[in-house]
Amino acid sequence: MNSTRTIVSRAARMAAAKPKASRSFVTSIAASPARCNKAPIITACNLVQTRGMKTLDFGGSKETVWERSDFPKEKLAKIFANDTFAVLGYGTQGYAQSLNLRDNGLKVIVGVRKGGHSWEQAKKDGWVEGKTLFTIEEAADKGTVLMYLLSDAGQKHGWATVKPYVTKGKTLYFSHGFSVVFHEQTGVVPPKDVDVILAAPKGSGATVRSLFLEGRGINSSVAIFQDASGQARERAFAMGVAIGSGYLYETTFEKEVHSDLVGERGILMGAIQGAFAAQYDVLRAKGHSPSEAFNETVEEATQSLYPLVSKHGMDWMYANCSTTARRGALDWAPKFYDATKPVFEALYAAVEDGSETRRSLEENSRPDYRERLEEELRVIRESEMWRAGKTVRSLRPENVK
Ligand SMILES: NC(=O)c1ccc[n+]([C@@H]2O[C@H](COP(=O)([O-])OP(=O)(O)OC[C@H]3O[C@@H](n4cnc5c(N)ncnc54)[C@H](OP(=O)(O)O)[C@@H]3O)[C@@H](O)[C@H]2O)c1
Repeated sequence: MNSTRTIVSRAARMAAAKPKASRSFVTSIAASPARCNKAPIITACNLVQTRGMKTLDFGGSKETVWERSDFPKEKLAKIFANDTFAVLGYGTQGYAQSLNLRDNGLKVIVGVRKGGHSWEQAKKDGWVEGKTLFTIEEAADKGTVLMYLLSDAGQKHGWATVKPYVTKGKTLYFSHGFSVVFHEQTGVVPPKDVDVILAAPKGSGATVRSLFLEGRGINSSVAIFQDASGQARERAFAMGVAIGSGYLYETTFEKEVHSDLVGERGILMGAIQGAFAAQYDVLRAKGHSPSEAFNETVEEATQSLYPLVSKHGMDWMYANCSTTARRGALDWAPKFYDATKPVFEALYAAVEDGSETRRSLEENSRPDYRERLEEELRVIRESEMWRAGKTVRSLRPENVK
């Protein structure tokens, strides 16, 4: 498609012409936090604001969204005055959430396997053995809020170790509904006398940390599975903010795990690799060079069109490409919809009936899972498409030395 230049130049003009009107509701709220303190007001963009939460119109459905400014540091300190957060696991989420909690002035300890990769990493990040860094058992014993952030397969294996410390009055916290929803596979069944809550950042731990450090926050889902204290809801939203979220969307454990597993297997990762490879292979089979096939499949998408879709929406992108590109895209979109919808339906069914979690637990519990994973990633990395991509990326202005 030859539309990139048209799109970019029009994008620049549009951005210069009406920067505010084209912003999403959420972005404009973030840019004007002072407006959020007036309760309730109705704006031209169908926004109902009350202190503590906002009801927004999402494509015709009203949903309630909480935001970071609803829980300033002083309020967090009050809500969690008697709590010790025990972050069990120090992968990307454990790392980001523990540091953000600590920077928010809360009492945090980390619990990981002694001598493992995470143990060494936690020490590098300033957690001190015997003071703030403990074994999983020790941390689970000392903590009042147990943040179960081992890998999802690790949560299954670690549950026998952690369960004795999940005692009356404590809070059990997750960042994924996986273990609890698929308890028949994981064995994770929390006792009835604890709060069970979830805050699931919609992004990698690296982004959870970097957005927090920038003074912003990531979007997160929040859910309450069990409210033994009667305060689980407020504590769940407060925790969502304390770990570094900007906006919080309420859901259930079940909906969180279903949508998350579908998304990552689908459009976020599985579907794009599948669709990229299919188009690339067709172009190559028809005699196009690797660079042409890659540029037309991946580079133009990620470098030009997707950022514009992100910024302005799909209709805007269609409206600002060439008439030729637009006509073809409008005609072919329904065909791709029809071709892929049954795949998404099959995917949802496999998530819902537990096949996907079963496979994930089996594969990720194998002693040689890292080696097997590396072999699968090597095949992708060494495929012609992604080797061509490496060369194309090296030619981006920022990468040319
Ligand atoms: N990654 C994301 O972007 C993301 C986003 C949202 C939510 N989540 C959720 O957040 C949770 C944590 O995910 P993550 O990506 O941060 O972690 P992860 O990389 O999946 O897990 C790493 C941690 O689990 C520990 N671990 C693994 N198996 C263990 C076992 N058998 N016994 C003891 N420790 C074990 C590791 O310790 P060692 O170093 O000692 O092996 C390490 O500390 C998961 O529920 C995940 O679904 C993740």
